Amino acid sequence: MTHSIAIIGASGYTGAELIRLLATHPSFEIKALAANSKAGQSLAQVFPHLRHLDLPDLVTWEQIDFAGIDLCFCALPHKTSQEVISQLPKSVKIVDLSADFRLRDPADYEKWYGNAHVAVETQAEAVYGLTEFYRDQIKGARLVAGTGCNAATGQYILRPLISGGLIDLDEIILDLQCGVSGAGRSLKENLLHAELSEGTNAYAVGGTHRHLGEFDQEFSALAGRPVEIQFTPHLGPFNRGILATAYLKGDPQAIHAALTTAYADESFVEVLPFGETPSTHHVRGSNFCHLGVSGDRRPGRAIVVAALDNLCKGSSGQALQNANLMLGEAETAGLMLAPCFP
Ligand SMILES: NC(=O)c1ccc[n+]([C@@H]2O[C@H](COP(=O)([O-])OP(=O)(O)OC[C@H]3O[C@@H](n4cnc5c(N)ncnc54)[C@H](OP(=O)(O)O)[C@@H]3O)[C@@H](O)[C@H]2O)c1
Repeated sequence: MTHSIAIIGASGYTGAELIRLLATHPSFEIKALAANSKAGQSLAQVFPHLRHLDLPDLVTWEQIDFAGIDLCFCALPHKTSQEVISQLPKSVKIVDLSADFRLRDPADYEKWYGNAHVAVETQAEAVYGLTEFYRDQIKGARLVAGTGCNAATGQYILRPLISGGLIDLDEIILDLQCGVSGAGRSLKENLLHAELSEGTNAYAVGGTHRHLGEFDQEFSALAGRPVEIQFTPHLGPFNRGILATAYLKGDPQAIHAALTTAYADESFVEVLPFGETPSTHHVRGSNFCHLGVSGDRRPGRAIVVAALDNLCKGSSGQALQNANLMLGEAETAGLMLAPCFP
C-alpha cells in the first residue's frame, strides 16, 4: 500500500533530509512540499543535490490539499509549528520535528521556550518520539513529537542506566558537540564560515539549554524523583553529527552490560565492545546511534560516548522511523542506509 506524504518546512535542512530518505522509501510517496520564503521555487532551485527527483514545486502550506494526505512531516521552527499544526485537518497524521509538542506540561514549555503554548489541546494528544522507548504509543498516535537531537543522544546513553539504578543520579555530567547543521539553514552571523571553522565554543552554559526541559521530564519520570543533569553543549566546526560524552558514577562493566542488553534487539542502536569509542564519521548520513563505554582510571566511574547524525537519527531519520510505525510499515523501511564514509 502506498501512503501519501506532505512535508512542511521542506526547504530547511531536516526537510532536505526527509526528502533524501523518502526518495527511496518502498511505500511512501511525496505529494506536497511546503516552504515559506522559498515557496514557488522548484526542488532543484532550493536543493540542487535533489534535482534528479521528480517532485512537486514548493508551495505554502495553506496551498496543500490535505484531503489526499495520510501523513505530514512538519519541519518548522518552534512556535510556528504549533500555530500551523493546530490548523491542519485532524484526519492527517503528523510527525512534528520541532520542540513544540515535546514537553507535556505547558508551563515547562513556557519556562524553556519563553512563550505560552497556543495549542494546549493538541499538545495533550502528542506522543514523545524517542522510538525505542515509546514504540507502542507511537503506533497508535496521530501526533508524534520528534525529540531534540541533543536530547535523543543523551537519552540513548542515560535511560537504561537510570531505569536500572546503575548510576548516581546526582552526579550525571553530559558534554556534547553538535555540528552546525543543528542550527538550521537560515543565515546567522556566528555560523559564517570565518567565525565557525577552525574553532569551537560552548554555549547555553550553566544549565540553560532548552533540551534540558526534555532531560528533566524524561529522567525524572524514569527515576520517580527529580533528576537534574549537568549539561554543556558545544558548537562543532563540522556539518553533521553529534558526539556526546557522559561522565558517570557507576560500575563501567555493569553499565556496558546494561546498555548491551537494552539495545540487543534494536535495529539502529549499536553498543560497541567495551573500551571502544564511537565517532561521528561512523554514523554520518545514517540512522544509527553508536554507544561506547569505558572505565575511568578511578574505580567506580565510567565514561559513555554516543555518536549519531543530528539530521538523521537526531531528527528526520527518527521522524521516518516513527512515521513507519504510525502507518503500519516496517519500522526500518527506507532507513537501512549505510553511513557515508569517509
Ligand atoms: N537541524 C537539526 O539538526 C534539527 C534536529 C532536531 C530537530 N530540529 C528541529 O526541526 C525544525 C526544523 O529544523 P531545520 O534545521 O530544518 O530548520 P531550517 O533549516 O531553518 O528550516 C526551517 C523551515 O521552516 C520554514 N519556515 C520558517 N518560517 C516559516 C513560517 N513562518 N511559515 C512556514 N514555513 C516557515 C522554512 O522555509 P523557507 O526556507 O522557505 O523560509 C524552512 O523550510 C526546527 O524546529 C528544529 O529545531 C532540527
